[in-house]
Amino acid sequence: MNKFDEISKLKEQIAKVISKVQTLDQLESMRIAYLGKKGTITSLLKKISLQSPEDRKDFGEQVNILKRKTSEEIDRFKSNLFNEELTEKISKNKIDVTLPIPESGIDIGKIHPITQVTEEIIEIFSDMDFDIAEGPDIENDHNNFNALNIPESHPARQMVDTFYLPQVDGETRLLRTHTSPVQIRTMLSKKPPIRIIAPGRTYRSDSDQTHTPMFHQVEGLVIDSDSNMGQLKWVLEEFCKAFFEVPSIKMRFRPSYFPFTEPSLEVDIACHKSNNQLIVGEGDDWLEVLGSGMVHPQVLRNVNLDPSVYKGFAFGMGIDRLAMLKYGMTDLRAFFDSDLRWLRHYGFKVFDIPSLSKGLSE
Ligand code: PHE
Repeated sequence: MNKFDEISKLKEQIAKVISKVQTLDQLESMRIAYLGKKGTITSLLKKISLQSPEDRKDFGEQVNILKRKTSEEIDRFKSNLFNEELTEKISKNKIDVTLPIPESGIDIGKIHPITQVTEEIIEIFSDMDFDIAEGPDIENDHNNFNALNIPESHPARQMVDTFYLPQVDGETRLLRTHTSPVQIRTMLSKKPPIRIIAPGRTYRSDSDQTHTPMFHQVEGLVIDSDSNMGQLKWVLEEFCKAFFEVPSIKMRFRPSYFPFTEPSLEVDIACHKSNNQLIVGEGDDWLEVLGSGMVHPQVLRNVNLDPSVYKGFAFGMGIDRLAMLKYGMTDLRAFFDSDLRWLRHYGFKVFDIPSLSKGLSE
């Protein structure tokens, strides 16, 4: 057979083969058979240089045209087949939305109590016009300590067991021990008036029934020209009423000490036990729920705010602790064990965030 006839035979053969291809896999085998390293067309290409000078040009041209057409044809088939296979898959997996929900119900999972309680806290403070601020879990010691008026030598540094990380560019880095560094970040990036809460993860090397190495806090910060302690007390009282869903709540503000607030207050809420259940809001026992105070003038200076112009108050509380109190859980460690039985029991239904705004007075 003449070598030019060979090319046209091959062309016919390819047309036949391709018309029979039904799947992407078959198409790929075909591509390899003709255009692969040892494919028929590839070996013809290698023969071009062996042709006599008078035939070489024509032969080369025809083989190259065959190669281009075959490869175009394969590509066209490929996208057709792909679309066909996809359409088939979609039509097979049709969901009939009119079918009733199976009697066993649908397992859609539960919301973790921490997520639930964080949402509740955000909802309450949003109603009071607070914005949500965030900061990184890995902090430098300036934001976590120095700028908050806790210098290196300060005994407060020894009060918490900090997880230190390797230095980067001479900067000491650590896992933030509280959400208070977000105060610093916010004051440096925003002009007063400031009214934010900052929920997030915090870390201390501590573990027992009520402490885990990772836990959650929410920070509050208000900076304005006339911020005062009366406002701080009002905000905390409204928050506690709304959070515990009670019309009134007995609270106690105790003098305390934090290096970044002056004066500093610790806040307790009244409680009692009834039928072995903890009732929050009234009673003769006290539960400590948060730390707070007026922002220390030195902290304002550290973020370039003039303490004779601006005043502020801040507060910080443990989200996990609030969750335990409100929903009656006794061991904090269980929060982070990822035990599905615990989650099914204590978790919340999706789309079930209660509106807590009713606790807020106008
Ligand atoms: N950062 C403090 C703590 O972790 C709580 C706090 C925040 C106290 C803001 C006062 C003001 O214990």
